[in-house]
Parts: sequence; C-alpha cells; structure tokens
Amino acid sequence: MLHPEMESALNEQLKWEVYSGYLYLAMAAYFEDLGLPGFAHWMKAQTAEEFMHAMKFYKFIFERDGRVVLQEIPAPPKEWQSPEDVFAYAYKHEQEVTSRINKLMTLARKFEDYATENFLQWFVDEQVEEEASFKAILNKLRLIKNDPQALFYLDNELAQRPLDLNLLMTQV
Ligand code: FEO
Repeated sequence: MLHPEMESALNEQLKWEVYSGYLYLAMAAYFEDLGLPGFAHWMKAQTAEEFMHAMKFYKFIFERDGRVVLQEIPAPPKEWQSPEDVFAYAYKHEQEVTSRINKLMTLARKFEDYATENFLQWFVDEQVEEEASFKAILNKLRLIKNDPQALFYLDNELAQRPLDLNLLMTQV
C-alpha cells in the first residue's frame, strides 16, 4: 500500500516521463525539418525509451494497489538554435529528471517504503546512463561546431541506434 503522498509523487513522475518522451519527439521533428534523419531517429528511439519509463511507473503504482491518475502534459518547445542547442537543452532536462528521481527516493525513505526505494534504484542507475549519453553527443557537437561534413558523419552514427518498440509493451 502506497502512502497517498508517495502515490501522488509517483503519478507526477509518470507525467514527467511522458513529457520527456513528448519533448524528445518535438526534438525529432526539429531534426526531421533540418534534414538530419539520423538525429531524428535517435530522438525517436529516446521517445520510446521515455514512454517505457512511464509504463514502469504505471505498472508499479498498480502493483502497489495505487491508482494511476493521468495529468495534463504541457506542450514542449518546437524551435532551437542548432543541434548543439537541442542537446544542451536535453542534457539540462535529464539533470532535472535526475533531481526529481532523487526527491522521490528521499520521500520513499521518509515513509520507510522499501519497495518503492528498491523500484526507484533502477531509475537512479538509469539516470547516470541517460545523462552520460546526452552529454557525450553534446560534447561531440561542441567539437564539430559548424563543420557540415562532421555533422553528416554524426548523423549517420546516430541513425544506428536500435529502436525497440517492444520495450513499451514488456512493461505492462
Ligand atoms: Fe526517463 Fe530520460 O529519463
């Protein structure tokens, strides 16, 4: 049984994970428009991953006899200055997600809710990977600056990211 405050905070995080997917889909659309299909593909793969994260919260709330209550998702931005600007924005967003996961962990500890603490540990580890993968691409873009050939190569590299839509359904 979840403490009502914990249940509400988990629902809030479910919303944030959906919003993250929505944000990365907006970034995919920006890259499509820019003529960078590899970047767009990478962002679509990230969108699927974020929806998978959301479904983990969905499943966990139900498993703990809580109630999933979906909330309004704000519209993400649609314009950025450059690919570097997109990844700087996304990296900052992931840092915000990490901070929210940490706050959830603090709440779980306050209520001595060990099951939630254990569930959240997966996200603590995942956030280390999430921040690192965005930062690695941001670093490359900072090196590339305005070199179109290097950008083309990076676009090809990002096109290789696996996109596994089954990820979503294995969480429900
Ligand atoms: Fe679900 Fe990228 O944090």
